[in-house]
Amino acid sequence: MLNYDEQKANEREVELATSRRKIEHIDICTQRQVEARPRADGTRASGLDDLMLVHRALPELNMSEIDLRCTFLGKRLDAPLLISSMTGGHPETLDINRNLAIAAQRLGIGIGVGSQRAALEDASQQESYTVVREVAPDAFIYGNIGAAQLARYGVDGVMRSIEMLDADAMAIHLNFLQEAIQPEGDTDAAGVLHSIEEVCASGIPVIVKETGAGIRREDALRLKEVGVSAIDVAGCGGTSWAGVEYYRNRREGMHTEEVFWNWGIPTAVSVVECGVGMPLIASGGIRSGLDCAKCIALGADVCAIALPLVKRAIEGSNAVEAYLTQVIQQLKIAMFLSASHDVDALKRAQIVICGLTCEILTQRGHDTRRFAMR
Ligand SMILES: Cc1cc2nc3c(=O)[nH]c(=O)nc-3n(C[C@H](O)[C@H](O)[C@H](O)COP(=O)(O)O)c2cc1C
Repeated sequence: MLNYDEQKANEREVELATSRRKIEHIDICTQRQVEARPRADGTRASGLDDLMLVHRALPELNMSEIDLRCTFLGKRLDAPLLISSMTGGHPETLDINRNLAIAAQRLGIGIGVGSQRAALEDASQQESYTVVREVAPDAFIYGNIGAAQLARYGVDGVMRSIEMLDADAMAIHLNFLQEAIQPEGDTDAAGVLHSIEEVCASGIPVIVKETGAGIRREDALRLKEVGVSAIDVAGCGGTSWAGVEYYRNRREGMHTEEVFWNWGIPTAVSVVECGVGMPLIASGGIRSGLDCAKCIALGADVCAIALPLVKRAIEGSNAVEAYLTQVIQQLKIAMFLSASHDVDALKRAQIVICGLTCEILTQRGHDTRRFAMR
Protein backbone atom coordinates (compact mmCIF):
# COMPACT_ATOMS: atom_id res chain seq x y z
CA MET A 1 0.00 0.00 0.00
CA LEU A 2 1.45 3.39 -1.03
CA ASN A 3 1.41 6.26 1.44
CA TYR A 4 -0.06 9.65 0.45
CA ASP A 5 3.27 11.16 -0.70
CA GLU A 6 4.18 8.10 -2.76
CA GLN A 7 0.74 8.12 -4.39
CA LYS A 8 1.06 11.84 -5.27
CA ALA A 9 4.58 11.26 -6.63
CA ASN A 10 3.24 8.43 -8.80
CA GLU A 11 0.40 10.60 -10.13
CA ARG A 12 2.86 13.39 -10.93
CA GLU A 13 5.02 10.89 -12.82
CA VAL A 14 1.99 9.84 -14.93
CA GLU A 15 1.18 13.53 -15.68
CA LEU A 16 4.74 14.22 -16.79
CA ALA A 17 4.82 11.07 -18.94
CA THR A 18 1.53 12.03 -20.66
CA SER A 19 2.83 15.52 -21.38
CA ARG A 20 6.28 14.32 -22.53
CA ARG A 21 4.74 11.74 -24.85
CA LYS A 22 3.01 14.57 -26.76
CA ILE A 23 6.36 16.10 -27.68
CA GLU A 24 7.86 12.76 -28.59
CA HIS A 25 4.96 12.18 -31.00
CA ILE A 26 5.42 15.57 -32.63
CA ASP A 27 9.17 15.04 -33.01
CA ILE A 28 8.72 11.61 -34.56
CA CYS A 29 5.93 12.76 -36.89
CA THR A 30 8.07 15.60 -38.25
CA GLN A 31 11.32 13.68 -38.57
CA ARG A 32 10.39 10.13 -39.58
CA GLN A 33 8.37 8.33 -42.20
CA VAL A 34 5.38 7.23 -40.15
CA GLU A 35 2.74 6.71 -42.81
CA ALA A 36 1.30 3.34 -43.79
CA ARG A 37 3.56 1.73 -46.38
CA PRO A 38 2.45 1.62 -50.02
CA ARG A 39 1.22 -1.66 -51.46
CA ALA A 40 3.48 -3.79 -53.67
CA ASP A 41 2.03 -2.11 -56.80
CA GLY A 42 2.92 1.36 -55.46
CA THR A 43 -0.64 2.44 -54.72
CA ARG A 44 -1.47 3.91 -51.33
CA ALA A 45 -2.65 1.68 -48.50
CA SER A 46 -5.64 4.00 -47.98
CA GLY A 47 -7.20 2.62 -51.16
CA LEU A 48 -7.80 6.17 -52.39
CA ASP A 49 -5.84 5.39 -55.60
CA ASP A 50 -8.43 2.69 -56.37
CA LEU A 51 -11.10 5.36 -56.79
CA MET A 52 -11.86 7.29 -59.96
CA LEU A 53 -14.35 10.12 -60.08
CA VAL A 54 -15.97 9.91 -63.49
CA HIS A 55 -14.86 12.86 -65.63
CA ARG A 56 -17.56 15.07 -67.07
CA ALA A 57 -16.44 16.58 -70.37
CA LEU A 58 -19.53 18.78 -70.30
CA PRO A 59 -19.81 20.04 -66.72
CA GLU A 60 -22.32 22.74 -67.77
CA LEU A 61 -21.51 24.96 -64.80
CA ASN A 62 -19.32 27.93 -63.99
CA MET A 63 -16.41 26.92 -61.75
CA SER A 64 -16.43 30.29 -60.04
CA GLU A 65 -19.96 29.59 -58.80
CA ILE A 66 -19.17 26.29 -57.09
CA ASP A 67 -20.37 26.37 -53.48
CA LEU A 68 -18.14 24.59 -50.97
CA ARG A 69 -20.15 25.52 -47.90
CA CYS A 70 -21.80 22.86 -45.78
CA THR A 71 -23.26 22.33 -42.33
CA PHE A 72 -21.69 19.85 -39.95
CA LEU A 73 -23.31 19.00 -36.59
CA GLY A 74 -25.28 22.21 -36.81
CA LYS A 75 -22.35 24.50 -37.58
CA ARG A 76 -21.66 26.20 -40.90
CA LEU A 77 -18.30 25.44 -42.57
CA ASP A 78 -16.92 27.36 -45.57
CA ALA A 79 -15.46 24.09 -46.91
CA PRO A 80 -16.05 20.44 -45.93
CA LEU A 81 -12.74 20.22 -44.14
CA LEU A 82 -11.48 19.69 -40.59
CA ILE A 83 -8.04 19.87 -39.00
CA SER A 84 -7.81 16.52 -37.21
CA SER A 85 -7.25 16.05 -33.50
CA MET A 86 -3.53 16.27 -32.85
CA THR A 87 -2.00 18.02 -29.94
CA GLY A 88 -1.95 20.06 -26.74
CA GLY A 89 -0.86 19.25 -23.21
CA HIS A 90 2.72 20.49 -23.27
CA PRO A 91 3.91 24.14 -23.35
CA GLU A 92 5.67 23.47 -26.67
CA THR A 93 2.38 22.50 -28.29
CA LEU A 94 0.77 25.88 -27.61
CA ASP A 95 2.14 27.54 -30.76
CA ILE A 96 1.20 24.55 -32.88
CA ASN A 97 -2.42 24.69 -31.75
CA ARG A 98 -2.49 28.47 -32.09
CA ASN A 99 -1.25 28.31 -35.69
CA LEU A 100 -3.67 25.55 -36.64
CA ALA A 101 -6.56 27.47 -35.07
CA ILE A 102 -5.66 30.76 -36.79
CA ALA A 103 -5.78 28.96 -40.15
CA ALA A 104 -9.10 27.28 -39.25
CA GLN A 105 -10.63 30.63 -38.35
CA ARG A 106 -9.38 32.31 -41.54
CA LEU A 107 -10.58 29.49 -43.79
CA GLY A 108 -13.89 28.90 -41.99
CA ILE A 109 -13.19 25.22 -41.39
CA GLY A 110 -13.32 23.04 -38.26
CA ILE A 111 -10.56 22.02 -35.88
CA GLY A 112 -10.03 19.32 -33.27
CA VAL A 113 -7.47 19.31 -30.47
CA GLY A 114 -5.40 16.35 -29.29
CA SER A 115 -6.30 14.28 -26.25
CA GLN A 116 -7.13 16.55 -23.31
CA ARG A 117 -6.03 13.93 -20.82
CA ALA A 118 -2.88 15.94 -20.01
CA ALA A 119 -4.97 18.97 -18.99
CA LEU A 120 -7.41 16.85 -16.99
CA GLU A 121 -4.45 15.45 -15.07
CA ASP A 122 -2.66 18.78 -14.70
CA ALA A 123 -4.63 22.05 -14.96
CA SER A 124 -1.43 24.00 -15.71
CA GLN A 125 -1.46 22.38 -19.18
CA GLN A 126 -4.81 23.91 -20.18
CA GLU A 127 -3.41 26.91 -22.01
CA SER A 128 -2.26 24.87 -25.00
CA TYR A 129 -5.93 23.93 -25.55
CA THR A 130 -7.75 27.11 -24.55
CA VAL A 131 -5.70 29.06 -27.11
CA VAL A 132 -7.72 27.33 -29.86
CA ARG A 133 -11.02 29.00 -28.93
CA GLU A 134 -9.23 32.31 -28.21
CA VAL A 135 -7.95 32.62 -31.78
CA ALA A 136 -10.80 30.79 -33.52
CA PRO A 137 -13.94 32.28 -31.95
CA ASP A 138 -16.21 31.22 -34.83
CA ALA A 139 -14.77 27.83 -35.76
CA PHE A 140 -16.34 24.43 -35.25
CA ILE A 141 -14.10 23.12 -32.46
CA TYR A 142 -14.13 19.63 -31.00
CA GLY A 143 -12.47 18.28 -27.89
CA ASN A 144 -10.76 14.93 -27.54
CA ILE A 145 -10.39 12.12 -25.04
CA GLY A 146 -9.36 8.48 -25.41
CA ALA A 147 -11.99 5.78 -24.99
CA ALA A 148 -9.50 3.94 -22.80
CA GLN A 149 -9.44 6.95 -20.45
CA LEU A 150 -13.24 7.37 -20.30
CA ALA A 151 -13.57 4.90 -17.43
CA ARG A 152 -11.29 7.10 -15.31
CA TYR A 153 -12.62 10.57 -16.20
CA GLY A 154 -16.25 9.72 -17.03
CA VAL A 155 -18.94 12.16 -18.12
CA ASP A 156 -17.56 14.75 -15.69
CA GLY A 157 -14.15 14.69 -17.43
CA VAL A 158 -15.83 15.08 -20.81
CA MET A 159 -17.85 18.06 -19.52
CA ARG A 160 -14.68 19.70 -18.22
CA SER A 161 -12.95 19.09 -21.56
CA ILE A 162 -15.84 20.71 -23.44
CA GLU A 163 -15.86 23.74 -21.14
CA MET A 164 -12.10 24.15 -21.49
CA LEU A 165 -12.58 24.84 -25.21
CA ASP A 166 -16.14 26.05 -25.34
CA ALA A 167 -16.28 23.14 -27.78
CA ASP A 168 -19.11 22.32 -30.19
CA ALA A 169 -18.61 18.56 -29.83
CA MET A 170 -16.39 15.98 -28.21
CA ALA A 171 -14.34 13.37 -30.02
CA ILE A 172 -13.78 10.09 -28.25
CA HIS A 173 -10.90 8.29 -29.87
CA LEU A 174 -10.41 4.58 -30.32
CA ASN A 175 -6.72 3.70 -30.50
CA PHE A 176 -6.45 0.14 -29.34
CA LEU A 177 -3.78 -0.67 -31.91
CA GLN A 178 -1.52 1.93 -30.33
CA GLU A 179 -2.47 0.96 -26.78
CA ALA A 180 -1.67 -2.68 -27.54
CA ILE A 181 1.76 -1.82 -28.90
CA GLN A 182 2.75 0.87 -26.37
CA PRO A 183 4.70 -0.58 -23.43
CA GLU A 184 2.59 1.61 -21.10
CA GLY A 185 -0.64 1.12 -23.10
CA ASP A 186 -4.10 0.69 -21.61
CA THR A 187 -5.49 -2.47 -23.15
CA ASP A 188 -8.71 -2.87 -21.21
CA ALA A 189 -11.30 -2.28 -23.93
CA ALA A 190 -14.16 -3.91 -22.05
CA GLY A 191 -17.14 -1.65 -21.42
CA VAL A 192 -16.04 1.10 -23.81
CA LEU A 193 -19.32 1.14 -25.74
CA HIS A 194 -21.24 1.56 -22.49
CA SER A 195 -19.00 4.47 -21.42
CA ILE A 196 -19.60 6.12 -24.80
CA GLU A 197 -23.35 5.59 -24.37
CA GLU A 198 -23.22 7.37 -20.99
CA VAL A 199 -21.55 10.42 -22.54
CA CYS A 200 -24.11 10.48 -25.36
CA ALA A 201 -26.95 10.22 -22.83
CA SER A 202 -25.70 13.40 -21.14
CA GLY A 203 -26.59 15.30 -24.33
CA ILE A 204 -23.04 16.08 -25.48
CA PRO A 205 -22.61 15.72 -29.27
CA VAL A 206 -20.10 12.88 -29.56
CA ILE A 207 -17.84 12.11 -32.51
CA VAL A 208 -16.27 8.67 -32.24
CA LYS A 209 -13.03 8.51 -34.16
CA GLU A 210 -10.42 5.90 -34.88
CA THR A 211 -6.82 6.99 -35.17
CA GLY A 212 -5.60 5.12 -38.25
CA ALA A 213 -7.15 1.65 -38.28
CA GLY A 214 -10.67 2.41 -39.55
CA ILE A 215 -14.14 1.38 -38.40
CA ARG A 216 -16.24 -1.48 -39.82
CA ARG A 217 -19.94 -1.31 -40.61
CA GLU A 218 -21.20 -3.37 -37.67
CA ASP A 219 -19.31 -1.15 -35.19
CA ALA A 220 -20.63 1.99 -36.87
CA LEU A 221 -24.15 0.64 -36.41
CA ARG A 222 -23.49 -0.08 -32.72
CA LEU A 223 -22.19 3.45 -32.27
CA LYS A 224 -25.27 4.84 -33.99
CA GLU A 225 -27.50 2.77 -31.70
CA VAL A 226 -25.94 4.17 -28.52
CA GLY A 227 -26.52 7.75 -29.68
CA VAL A 228 -23.20 8.86 -31.20
CA SER A 229 -23.62 12.01 -33.34
CA ALA A 230 -20.87 11.41 -35.94
CA ILE A 231 -18.13 8.98 -36.90
CA ASP A 232 -14.61 9.73 -38.12
CA VAL A 233 -13.29 6.60 -39.84
CA ALA A 234 -9.56 7.55 -39.54
CA GLY A 235 -8.74 4.55 -41.67
CA CYS A 236 -5.50 2.81 -42.51
CA GLY A 237 -3.39 4.55 -45.12
CA GLY A 238 -2.21 7.72 -43.39
CA THR A 239 -0.38 8.06 -40.09
CA SER A 240 0.47 4.63 -38.72
CA TRP A 241 0.54 4.57 -34.92
CA ALA A 242 2.44 1.31 -35.06
CA GLY A 243 4.95 3.31 -37.10
CA VAL A 244 5.10 6.12 -34.53
CA GLU A 245 5.56 3.62 -31.70
CA TYR A 246 8.29 1.88 -33.70
CA TYR A 247 10.42 5.00 -33.46
CA ARG A 248 9.59 5.50 -29.77
CA ASN A 249 10.53 1.99 -28.73
CA ARG A 250 13.25 1.09 -31.20
CA ARG A 251 15.12 -1.91 -29.86
CA GLU A 252 16.90 -4.97 -31.17
CA GLY A 253 15.07 -8.08 -32.32
CA MET A 254 11.67 -8.68 -33.80
CA HIS A 255 9.53 -5.58 -33.99
CA THR A 256 5.88 -6.02 -33.18
CA GLU A 257 5.41 -2.46 -34.47
CA GLU A 258 6.61 -3.51 -37.94
CA VAL A 259 4.26 -6.48 -37.98
CA PHE A 260 1.27 -4.17 -37.39
CA TRP A 261 2.52 -1.15 -39.40
CA ASN A 262 -0.29 -1.42 -41.99
CA TRP A 263 -2.94 -2.97 -39.74
CA GLY A 264 -6.47 -1.76 -40.23
CA ILE A 265 -9.34 -1.10 -42.59
CA PRO A 266 -8.23 1.10 -45.50
CA THR A 267 -9.81 4.56 -45.46
CA ALA A 268 -11.69 4.09 -48.77
CA VAL A 269 -13.22 0.83 -47.49
CA SER A 270 -14.10 2.28 -44.11
CA VAL A 271 -15.89 5.28 -45.64
CA VAL A 272 -18.23 2.91 -47.50
CA GLU A 273 -18.61 0.64 -44.46
CA CYS A 274 -19.58 3.57 -42.22
CA GLY A 275 -22.28 4.86 -44.56
CA VAL A 276 -24.97 4.06 -41.99
CA GLY A 277 -27.01 7.24 -42.22
CA MET A 278 -25.19 9.48 -39.78
CA PRO A 279 -22.73 12.39 -40.21
CA LEU A 280 -19.44 10.94 -41.46
CA ILE A 281 -15.87 12.24 -41.45
CA ALA A 282 -13.32 10.68 -43.81
CA SER A 283 -9.73 10.70 -42.63
CA GLY A 284 -6.58 8.63 -42.68
CA GLY A 285 -4.22 9.52 -45.51
CA ILE A 286 -6.26 12.37 -47.03
CA ARG A 287 -3.50 14.23 -48.86
CA SER A 288 -5.21 16.38 -51.50
CA GLY A 289 -8.47 18.01 -52.45
CA LEU A 290 -8.98 15.19 -54.94
CA ASP A 291 -8.81 12.69 -52.04
CA CYS A 292 -11.47 14.80 -50.28
CA ALA A 293 -13.70 14.83 -53.34
CA LYS A 294 -13.44 11.03 -53.73
CA CYS A 295 -14.36 10.44 -50.07
CA ILE A 296 -17.36 12.76 -50.28
CA ALA A 297 -18.56 10.97 -53.42
CA LEU A 298 -18.24 7.71 -51.45
CA GLY A 299 -20.47 9.02 -48.66
CA ALA A 300 -18.45 11.26 -46.32
CA ASP A 301 -19.81 14.66 -45.29
CA VAL A 302 -16.46 16.24 -44.49
CA CYS A 303 -12.78 15.21 -44.58
CA ALA A 304 -10.06 15.64 -41.96
CA ILE A 305 -6.28 15.97 -42.26
CA ALA A 306 -3.61 15.55 -39.57
CA LEU A 307 -0.02 14.62 -40.41
CA PRO A 308 0.77 17.05 -43.27
CA LEU A 309 -0.20 19.92 -40.97
CA VAL A 310 2.28 19.20 -38.17
CA LYS A 311 5.42 20.53 -39.85
CA ARG A 312 3.51 23.46 -41.31
CA ALA A 313 2.04 24.40 -37.92
CA ILE A 314 5.56 24.53 -36.49
CA GLU A 315 6.49 26.87 -39.36
CA GLY A 316 3.54 29.20 -38.78
CA SER A 317 -0.16 29.81 -39.46
CA ASN A 318 0.55 31.05 -43.00
CA ALA A 319 2.11 27.72 -43.95
CA VAL A 320 -0.96 25.86 -42.63
CA GLU A 321 -3.28 28.22 -44.46
CA ALA A 322 -1.33 27.96 -47.73
CA TYR A 323 -1.45 24.15 -47.64
CA LEU A 324 -5.16 24.00 -46.86
CA THR A 325 -5.96 26.66 -49.45
CA GLN A 326 -4.36 24.40 -52.04
CA VAL A 327 -6.40 21.42 -50.81
CA ILE A 328 -9.59 23.50 -51.09
CA GLN A 329 -8.67 24.64 -54.61
CA GLN A 330 -8.04 21.03 -55.67
CA LEU A 331 -11.40 20.04 -54.21
CA LYS A 332 -13.05 22.79 -56.22
CA ILE A 333 -11.39 21.60 -59.45
CA ALA A 334 -12.51 18.01 -58.77
CA MET A 335 -16.05 19.30 -58.18
CA PHE A 336 -15.96 21.26 -61.44
CA LEU A 337 -14.70 18.27 -63.44
CA SER A 338 -17.33 15.99 -61.91
CA ALA A 339 -20.04 18.59 -62.60
CA SER A 340 -20.80 19.06 -58.90
CA HIS A 341 -22.05 22.58 -58.20
CA ASP A 342 -22.12 22.01 -54.43
CA VAL A 343 -21.18 19.45 -51.79
CA ASP A 344 -24.55 17.67 -52.02
CA ALA A 345 -24.12 17.29 -55.77
CA LEU A 346 -20.62 15.85 -55.18
CA LYS A 347 -22.22 13.21 -52.93
CA ARG A 348 -24.17 12.04 -55.99
CA ALA A 349 -21.23 12.15 -58.45
CA GLN A 350 -20.31 8.92 -60.20
CA ILE A 351 -17.26 7.16 -58.80
CA VAL A 352 -15.69 3.88 -59.88
CA ILE A 353 -14.12 1.57 -57.30
CA CYS A 354 -11.32 -0.67 -58.60
CA GLY A 355 -8.61 -3.01 -57.35
CA LEU A 356 -8.19 -4.24 -53.81
CA THR A 357 -10.76 -1.75 -52.47
CA CYS A 358 -13.40 -3.25 -54.77
CA GLU A 359 -12.37 -6.77 -53.78
CA ILE A 360 -12.59 -6.06 -50.05
CA LEU A 361 -15.93 -4.28 -50.37
CA THR A 362 -17.37 -7.07 -52.52
CA GLN A 363 -16.27 -9.70 -49.99
CA ARG A 364 -17.90 -7.59 -47.30
CA GLY A 365 -21.17 -7.71 -49.21
CA HIS A 366 -21.27 -4.22 -50.73
CA ASP A 367 -22.61 -3.56 -54.21
CA THR A 368 -19.80 -1.32 -55.50
CA ARG A 369 -21.48 -0.69 -58.87
CA ARG A 370 -24.14 1.50 -57.29
CA PHE A 371 -21.52 4.29 -57.01
CA ALA A 372 -20.61 4.10 -60.70
CA MET A 373 -24.11 3.76 -62.14
CA ARG A 374 -26.06 6.45 -60.33
C1 LIG B 1 1.06 14.22 -34.22
C2 LIG B 1 -0.28 13.57 -34.17
C3 LIG B 1 -0.95 13.48 -32.95
C4 LIG B 1 -2.21 12.89 -32.86
N1 LIG B 1 -2.88 12.88 -31.66
C5 LIG B 1 -4.16 12.45 -31.62
C6 LIG B 1 -4.93 12.58 -30.42
O1 LIG B 1 -4.45 13.06 -29.39
N2 LIG B 1 -6.23 12.15 -30.45
C7 LIG B 1 -6.79 11.61 -31.57
O2 LIG B 1 -7.98 11.28 -31.57
N3 LIG B 1 -6.07 11.46 -32.70
C8 LIG B 1 -4.79 11.86 -32.76
N4 LIG B 1 -4.08 11.76 -33.93
C9 LIG B 1 -4.70 11.03 -35.06
C10 LIG B 1 -5.32 11.96 -36.10
O3 LIG B 1 -6.38 12.70 -35.53
C11 LIG B 1 -5.84 11.18 -37.33
O4 LIG B 1 -6.94 10.38 -36.95
C12 LIG B 1 -4.81 10.27 -37.95
O5 LIG B 1 -3.50 10.82 -37.84
C13 LIG B 1 -5.08 10.01 -39.43
O6 LIG B 1 -4.98 11.18 -40.21
P1 LIG B 1 -3.68 11.53 -41.10
O7 LIG B 1 -3.37 10.31 -41.92
O8 LIG B 1 -4.08 12.71 -41.92
O9 LIG B 1 -2.56 11.84 -40.16
C14 LIG B 1 -2.82 12.35 -34.04
C15 LIG B 1 -2.13 12.43 -35.25
C16 LIG B 1 -0.88 13.02 -35.33
C17 LIG B 1 -0.18 13.07 -36.66
